[in-house]
Amino acid sequence: MEINQGGVKINEEGVGRKNGIKVNKERVKGNKDGIKDGKYGTKTSREEVKINKESIQTGEDRTKADKNLKADRSLKADKNLKADRSLKADRNLEEDPGFELLKKVIKESTGFNCEQYKEAHFKRRVNVRVRATNSESYEEYLRLLKKNSAEHEYLIKVLTINVSEFFRNPETFGVIEKEVIPFLIKSRSDSLVKSIRIWSAGCATGEEVYSLAILLHRVLGRDLDSYRISITGTDIDNLSLEKARKGAYHENVLKNVGASTKESYFVRQGEMYHVSDQLKSMIRFKHHDMISESCTNRFDLIICRNVMIYFKKEIQEQLQLNFHHSLNRGGFFVIGKAETLLGTASNRFKPYNARERLYIKET
Ligand SMILES: C[S@@+](CC[C@H](N)C(=O)[O-])C[C@H]1O[C@@H](n2cnc3c(N)ncnc32)[C@H](O)[C@@H]1O
Repeated sequence: MEINQGGVKINEEGVGRKNGIKVNKERVKGNKDGIKDGKYGTKTSREEVKINKESIQTGEDRTKADKNLKADRSLKADKNLKADRSLKADRNLEEDPGFELLKKVIKESTGFNCEQYKEAHFKRRVNVRVRATNSESYEEYLRLLKKNSAEHEYLIKVLTINVSEFFRNPETFGVIEKEVIPFLIKSRSDSLVKSIRIWSAGCATGEEVYSLAILLHRVLGRDLDSYRISITGTDIDNLSLEKARKGAYHENVLKNVGASTKESYFVRQGEMYHVSDQLKSMIRFKHHDMISESCTNRFDLIICRNVMIYFKKEIQEQLQLNFHHSLNRGGFFVIGKAETLLGTASNRFKPYNARERLYIKET
């Protein structure tokens, strides 16, 4: 009786299941052979016991499957609910009049000049924090921003997007090493004071600046002492500058650094690579907002990559003119691979290597 029940159960449950089908076949085989040989009958019983076990197992499986299905459904429902809510929140944010007020407060409290950034980019970045704090409107986020000073830092972090790496776009650094630096060295050969001044604007956590220092050190070799080298890295984000000054990096931002360079210019401590003091002594990091602060120095090489892209076009053009002004004649200007010179600025510079976005100031 039980066996039959078990068998039936298996058949019911076993629609399309190999086990169910196999079990039935065994039973048929067992009965046939069992007429000839009692052993087979016994075997059949064993098979049937097995069937029972399997049916029990199938029953457990079904409970498990049911549970999984329920969990799956509730997970899906959760996801849909969340997606729904975030869609609704997105729609709310789109129409939220609190955005203008938020911009004003951000400018006042963090000094971050929101108006100069592309609106879509700026909104996307702010929304990252609005969602992360579960705020349902800009006004709600504003209230949180006012009472939570840590949120200021998080906000600045997402607004400034400070990702970088050593020798980012290695081909560009190849041209700087093989052509730009040798050119600058040669043009100083007759000068009494052989000075080379470099500015990395929007240097984030310092990788770009240290990369340039490595190249200068490598190209000049023993002559380094005969030159007065100054490399300045500037950024609007103080936390990034702190990290830059510390000069400790995880391996993943050193993927373009060869083993011998690592050995010469870094000290490894566990997972971290610390920039050598020798490199640090060539560099200084400074807070500077390229939009609202001017620059009175003159440089031989200015590198400003992957920063201007976030600004409105008219701001980009103005900045490019400012950088032109801050360069010595014959100085080099490098921008990001996704950036272009705009308007009047594009006439002031002569392309040196257009592919690597390297320009030269002729007049
Ligand atoms: C994506 S990172 C670029 C880092 C590096 N130049 C590179 O290409 O790897 C952009 C940096 O620009 C900085 N930045 C944004 N607005 C700025 C401003 N107004 N003045 C100075 N730096 C700014 C950000 O803080 C961020 O560290």
